[in-house]
Amino acid sequence: MIVNIDDLRKVARRRLPRAIFDYVDGGAEDEYTMRANQADFRRYTFRPRVMVDVSQRNQATTVLGERVATPIILAPTGFTGMLWPRGEVVAARAAARKGAIFTVSTMSICSMEEVAEASSGPRWFQLYVWRDREIVRSLIERAKAAGYRVLVITVDTPVLGQRERDIRNGMVIPPRIGANNVLDTLRRVAWLKDFVRNPRITFGNFKDTLGVRHDPVSLASFTTKQFSPAVSWDDLDWYRSVWSGPIAIKGIMSAEDARLAVEHGVEAIVVSNHGGRQCDYLPSAVEVLPEVVDAVGGRAEVILDGGIRRGSDVVKAIALGARACMIGKAFNYGVAAGGQAGAERALDILMAEIDRTLALIGRPHLSDLDRGAIRATGAY
Ligand SMILES: Cc1cc2nc3c(=O)[nH]c(=O)nc-3n(C[C@H](O)[C@H](O)[C@H](O)COP(=O)(O)O)c2cc1C
Repeated sequence: MIVNIDDLRKVARRRLPRAIFDYVDGGAEDEYTMRANQADFRRYTFRPRVMVDVSQRNQATTVLGERVATPIILAPTGFTGMLWPRGEVVAARAAARKGAIFTVSTMSICSMEEVAEASSGPRWFQLYVWRDREIVRSLIERAKAAGYRVLVITVDTPVLGQRERDIRNGMVIPPRIGANNVLDTLRRVAWLKDFVRNPRITFGNFKDTLGVRHDPVSLASFTTKQFSPAVSWDDLDWYRSVWSGPIAIKGIMSAEDARLAVEHGVEAIVVSNHGGRQCDYLPSAVEVLPEVVDAVGGRAEVILDGGIRRGSDVVKAIALGARACMIGKAFNYGVAAGGQAGAERALDILMAEIDRTLALIGRPHLSDLDRGAIRATGAY
């Protein structure tokens, strides 16, 4: 029975080959940060108000000027098309049906144009700070032409984090069936049927440009070639010069960097440690959130990213000053469990939990939330 996000995770684990499930579910090194992202929401409990009329509740809000039905944003996640045929398209359609923003990753399997054609909902596009500015410039031009409204620039990947589950599993894109995983893969009949019938697992945004179409390149070798360890704030100014829409900078984990990002003119700051997939032993995103909110002082919108598994987590983040929250694994489990229906289920679960929490704590609208709605317990 599927009641919560963890139930979707269990279905995903049964359906996916081990290496693919671990790619979604895992984090860097000891996975301390990944676990802290989730666990630290338990440091907060609610301060409910009773005898409040909560008959009219609404989680609609605006994010960077756009009206949305929920403060949940689907985070950019690479290779979602490995979990389900046309995984990014089905996830984008699910988001559009629920009135949530969908972010296409540079490393998507479906191209950004395919996603744009298939979904009419609000769409953002995510980029890295890569070495080759001509590749980046052409991606930005395509994103503009395809109607993406916000550019999300991920800045926490000067090098790739060490994901030890991927290394042990020999994870490559597209997935290869070999001696080490043949038995495990054959057990995942439903996934395997889809994989065999839909052999188009490739880097959708580059299939005509980078010549990576047919070679099974390892995740590490492709990305490390492009990630630039020489990034600086000048790069952000360059992005600003070629993109006239709003920019969200993703991967900010300190007040100092939040201030610098505001000085460089970003419209949104995504407090994020990449779901604990990059640098291990960073604090959780929710721990850093209040410091960033205070440093930004309303000059940009702040988005919390990392660890959301419950609607109550979203409510806590908004009480701490976030405008919206990104979810990564939560919707990936949904896509893996049931394609579009599974992603819709993930959103339904979280949105119902947000709604119920707002009722039970006597704050019927997101605008009723402030730090007085929660208390820090310090305990788990
Ligand atoms: C399978 C997977 C792939 C991801 N790929 C990307 C990516 O291509 N670009 C990016 O900026 N972040 C990527 N992320 C990080 C997410 O955008 C987000 O920061 C993270 O998932 C949030 O934590 P959560 O999974 O606990 O919600 C990925 C995360 C996952 C789980």
